[in-house]
Formats: sequence, structure tokens, C-alpha cells
Amino acid sequence: MTIPDSTRQRAADLREQIESHNRRYYQLDAPIIADAEYDRLMRELIELETRFPELASIDSPTHRVGAPPVRAFAEVRHQAPMLSLDNAFSDEEVAAFDRRLRERVGMQSETIEYVAEPKLDGLAVSLTYRQGILALAATRGDGQVGEDVTANVRTISVIPLRLAGRGHPEHMEVRGEVYMPKSGFRALNERALRLGEKIFANPRNAAAGSLRQLDPKITASRPLAFFCYGVGLFPQALLPSSQDVLLELLERWGLPVCSEVACVQGVEGCLAYYRRVLEKRALLPYDIDGVVYKVSRFELQQRLGFVAKAPRWAVAHKFPAEEATTRVEAIEVQVGRTGALTPVARLAAVFVGGVTVSSATLHNADEVRRKDIRVGDTVVVRRAGDVIPEVVKMIPELRPPGARVFEMPDRCPVCGSRVEAVPGEAILRCSGGLYCPAQHKESIRHFASRRAMDIDGLGDKLIDQLLERKLVQTAADIYALREQDLVDIDRMGVKSARNLLRALERSKTTTLARFLYALGIREVGEATARALAAHYRSLDDLLAADAESLQQVRDVGPSVAGHVAAFFAEPRNRGVVADLIAAGIHWPPEPEISGARPLEGKSFVLTGTLGTMTRVEAKDRLERLGAKVSGAVSKKTHYVVAGADPGSKRAKAEQLGVDVLSENEFLQLLETASAHASAVSS
Ligand code: IVH
Repeated sequence: MTIPDSTRQRAADLREQIESHNRRYYQLDAPIIADAEYDRLMRELIELETRFPELASIDSPTHRVGAPPVRAFAEVRHQAPMLSLDNAFSDEEVAAFDRRLRERVGMQSETIEYVAEPKLDGLAVSLTYRQGILALAATRGDGQVGEDVTANVRTISVIPLRLAGRGHPEHMEVRGEVYMPKSGFRALNERALRLGEKIFANPRNAAAGSLRQLDPKITASRPLAFFCYGVGLFPQALLPSSQDVLLELLERWGLPVCSEVACVQGVEGCLAYYRRVLEKRALLPYDIDGVVYKVSRFELQQRLGFVAKAPRWAVAHKFPAEEATTRVEAIEVQVGRTGALTPVARLAAVFVGGVTVSSATLHNADEVRRKDIRVGDTVVVRRAGDVIPEVVKMIPELRPPGARVFEMPDRCPVCGSRVEAVPGEAILRCSGGLYCPAQHKESIRHFASRRAMDIDGLGDKLIDQLLERKLVQTAADIYALREQDLVDIDRMGVKSARNLLRALERSKTTTLARFLYALGIREVGEATARALAAHYRSLDDLLAADAESLQQVRDVGPSVAGHVAAFFAEPRNRGVVADLIAAGIHWPPEPEISGARPLEGKSFVLTGTLGTMTRVEAKDRLERLGAKVSGAVSKKTHYVVAGADPGSKRAKAEQLGVDVLSENEFLQLLETASAHASAVSS
């Protein structure tokens, strides 16, 4: 069947549009069309390609949904070997590395320029582009021979199937790391826990397990991402002069490059970079296990060459270990906010990842059984970034005789209510609801927590006492506390009582998203709360929504919709919500949606140091969402974003009554605005 030219043209247009939206959505975080509109474009392309199969070119974004499964991966011999890196574990080793290479090239008295990059904790892949089209993707394997994972890599949205821009070589190989963002990893494991499936020990294992799936549809459903950090085979004539320029070039062609990459001078520059990145490690949205320093100039790299399997011109400076071994002294059962029973290992205190850890989660009974953890065992504990410590495995050789097997109780250890197994879920729950003191306490704690209502000073012990004295029954009671109530409590001075009352006042100004998150509705985490707020924009509209219309909200499926609807259908919950609003909890109206530029007309001033991005990045993100960023605070300024050590601009803002946003609030605003931008035409 001959394909009409107009159809051919339409398919090409659609492909280009979809790829450009993919780039905006996944790389720039600045979508300009709604999900529904995107789906429509995709459906139209799939229809055309089904009708005219010859149209389904190899670079079509329709491949992202996953090709049919294969029986085994084909072997791929790398055209240039995939090397590994030497490690350095101390400042001295980095200094020795720098000294060695300067001596080797006769630059003893010069300062070398390095490109410093995070060492991403994922798995290395090689991407071959022919005529700008992704033709082959392979794992590292033994460095010489890897596996052909092309069909799987095509499902990773941030990886361009066709390069953007111009000037790319006919044939080139890009090297980089496939990883799983921490948030995706957490969500994947939470789901697995609920369904009683095997959970992944860390984001790296999850990324590797997801990429090495014989069925690309499974890979497509996993939240994988990618950063490139170099090239393999690449025509010498087109190679720029240095690593930093190369990364810029790759970025222009649409390949994602990590925004933490920096040019640094000499050992001092390297070590300062290391400290900076180590400090913000927990805030980064992906796991890293160190940083990499690479001699920037390629001419120097070539002169330095390789030893065995690693280049002489690069070194990985590893972060302190985040795993340690210790002994399980007891296994206790904790009752969470939703009644979930979690076995927790009480450990002999051990220093890991920069803090002392004395307990670690064992997730659920299935996991304890699968890992065969018993009281008395010596185990490996892991603490990654801001993730709660967990027991990775036990060491069989060190098991003492008579190590006790753990059994889950059939009564709630806190309130004695029956323990229920929910069909299809691996988790056991206490059936006591808010009558269970543990669930009650956890729900108040969650309400007050930093990412919810952020009530400074309302800690664990104080909540215990407030509940014990029946001063607080529901979250709304917190706002009725008076100074005298607090002073009567053990060891609470007038000063701390007043501080808490001030914190309570401050917390009353919040966002709709935070408020929804604080309510502790089952399965409504921060991202879902933000999506609900961005969609409904008013609490009344949300309260009026039924389970069916809730499913119109981005990423809300039948289960979450059911929980939200059930929560608001319960008169007691509605009562608490009404009491909270009556107590004065309020939020600024959700920003007006105006096209793809939700911050149009808003003016921002940035001050102080942000931990998660540079000021230039912050400015860039704001401007892409339509905002204006200026240097001086005036009455016309809408928001001042205050990082660490903010200086006089913050004071000026407070004087003028301009809203001051903390970094966290700022990040939230960016996310909400991006969600608006993508919800625009729905
Ligand atoms: S460069 C010849 N840069 O670390 C240079 N590798 O230990 C080879 N990795 O297999 C790699 N982040 O999987 C480089 N910014 C980065 C990296 C990085 C992570 C991994 C990569 C490699 C391993 C080497």
C-alpha cells in the first residue's frame, strides 16, 4: 500500500512534536501541554503507524511504551572498551593522583583544570547513534562485551531516540549512567511492599533489575532516568577540546547532563567540590556514591592514556561507606499512622553514613522471612541519604546458636486490637483506627511534621504528653492550646511555650497541598497532594469531588481516588477539616493558570545560597515558567526566595511585607507551577 505524502508528513510532524514535548517534560521540567493533549498526539501516531506499519520508523516515540519481550539478550562487543575508574578514599589520595599526573606530563608547577562530576550510582550504558538516531544500547558487561538492551533503553523517556540540533557525527557512541531517582525508587518499593512483592535493596539494584528485563513493557513502567558523562567511539575531527565543552555539546543534542557538573582548578578545587556535593548529597534527587574528577583537556587526557582497565586522567573520590555491620538485639513491632505493623530491628549502635544508627526497618514479615533475620544475628545495615536505615542482609557465618526466629503478633502490640491482613497486601494492620494510641499519635506527628504543617517544636515527647493529658484529641485541638496548658506540662518553660504558640501561628499560613498532605489520607503523599491542589485549586471543589472525577487528576488511580473520597465522606474527618479552617488555617489562592507560563507577571528576588540548585538554575526555572527575576526587593516584588545566609534582602522583604519563601517552599512552588503548566489545556 502506498502511503500518501500528507500522511508521511503528519507522522513526521507528530514524532517531532512528541519528542519535543518529551524533552520539555522530562529534561527541562517545563511542559507546555496537558497530559491529555500529549496522549492525543501519541494515540494519533500509534494509529497511523498501525495503519501503515512502514511508517513506524526506528526512532518513533511510540517505541517508548515497550516492544515485545525477548528470550535472552544478544551480546554486543563494544567498539571501544568500557573502562572503570580508580578510586581515591581520602584527600591525600586525590592529591597524590593530581601530583602523579602533573609529573607525568611535565606540568609540576601548573594547576590542572578538572571537570568534577557526581559519581552516579546506577549502571553504565553505551548508546550508539547513527545519523542521529538511537540505534543500539548496551550494558557495560565485562567492559569488552555487554548486552543489547536497546528495546528497554528506548522506553526511558529522557533518552532521545533522535538527537536534537545539528552537527552530530554520522556515527557516535554516548556513555552514561542509567539510574532510578530516589522518589521513583521509594514509590516502586512502597508498591511492592503493598503487593507483597520483592523489594529492591537500593536504587542501583532497582535500576539494574529494571533495565535487564526481558519484557520491555516492564522496563517502560519503571521510573528510570539517565545522565551522560562522556563518549566512546567518536570521530576525532569533531571532538571538542575539553570534557566540559563536550558535555555542553551533548546537552545541546538533547542528551541529559547532570546539572552538578562543574569545572574546578587543581586539588583544592576538587576537594572543595567534594565537600560541597557531600553536604547536599541527601538533597539530591538521585543516589551518588562519590564524585569523579576528570582532566578536562582531551589533548592532556590522550597524553596520559590508560593503565590496565582505568584511565590515568580520572579518579573516583568515594564518599564514606553507608553500610556497616552490627548485631540485632531485638525485633520489635511498630504501629504506623495507618495502622501498618512494621517489624523494626533494635541494633547495637553503629556509625554509618555519618550518623549513629540504633534501629532499622525490616519492612514486613515477608521480608524478615526472606532475609531470614533473627534476634542475635549480625547484619549489614544501610543508610542512604535521607532514607530510613534498613537491614540489608544477615551474615550466616556469624549466626550464634539459638538465634530466635521472629513471629508477627496477631494482636496490636499497642492497643491489643485484632491484626488484619488486607487481601492483596503484604502488610498487616491494626484494626483499632484512631482508637489505637499509636495510630493516633502518628497521625498528629505527621500533621505537625516539617513537610506537612511544619510546626516547629511540636516534638515526639510533647505530643505524648498532650495526648496523655487529653489536651489534644484531634489535629484541630493543637490550635486551641493556650500558654497555660503548655506551661503546666513537665519541663515546659514559658519561653518554649510561647515559641510553640508562635510556631503554631506561623504554621497557619500554608499551601493547599501541604494541608492535604497533613491530613494523612491513605496513599496521599506529597506528590499526590500537590497534584490534587493543582487540579482543584480550592478545598471546597475537592470536597465536592466524587471518586470518579478524582481519577481525572494526574497520577490518581482508583485506589487513591477511593481513599480520598472515603476520607472526606467520613463526617468526623469533615468536622476536623472544618475546625482547622475555623482555627485560621489558610493558604494563598493557588496561582492563576495562564497558559504555559503560570508565573507570568510574578516577580522574584533570589537571595542567599540554595542547597539544591545554583541561583542561575533557579532563575532559569523561574523564567521558563514566566516569572521575572530581579536583583532588588521593592513593593512590587511578589516573592523573595531566601536560601542560607540571606543578607539584607530578606530583611527588606520583611519590612515591606513581601512574602519570603524558604528553599523548600520555593521548590514546592516550582513543582506546583510546573504541574499547572502541564494541566493548562485539560
Ligand atoms: S567515567 C573511563 N563518570 O562509575 C571513564 N563514570 O567506576 C569511565 N560512573 O562504569 C567512566 N558516574 O558506571 C564516569 N560521572 C561519571 C560517572 C561514572 C558514575 C560509573 C560508571 C563506571 C563506573 C566506573
